[in-house]
Amino acid sequence: MKKIVLTSIVALAAGTALMAGVNAAGCKGCHGQNFEKKALGKSEIVKNMTHEEIATALKGYKAGTFGGSMKGIMKGQVAKYSDADLEAFSKTVGK
Ligand code: HEC
Repeated sequence: MKKIVLTSIVALAAGTALMAGVNAAGCKGCHGQNFEKKALGKSEIVKNMTHEEIATALKGYKAGTFGGSMKGIMKGQVAKYSDADLEAFSKTVGK
């Protein structure tokens, strides 16, 4: 019995770890399937930005220290993520 309980706790923890991080599906409506579009005709093409630029932008939107006239939109997108999540994500897009 003890073993079964332990196994389910481990399985639960693994599942949670997999779900953590930025859900890119929520970005694609505006930024394009491969981040190849100017979101709402306004943003930089994220695919052409460097990993560092993307990390700076995402953390800056969250902190309210970065962005143009439509930064409020991006704040809503990133506020729920940790800086570590945003940094990890920034390494998966851009160049
Ligand atoms: C509702 C549309 C929308 C969604 C959804 C959205 N974005 Fe954006 N994004 C924008 C707009 C508009 C801008 C430009 C904002 C500004 O004025 O600074 C932007 C800017 C950015 C920038 C900086 C580019 C620049 O112009 O410097 C990055 C990086 C970015 N978004 C990544 C993301 C990521 C990652 C997600 C998903 C978690 C996401 N966006 C979801 C509309 C969106």
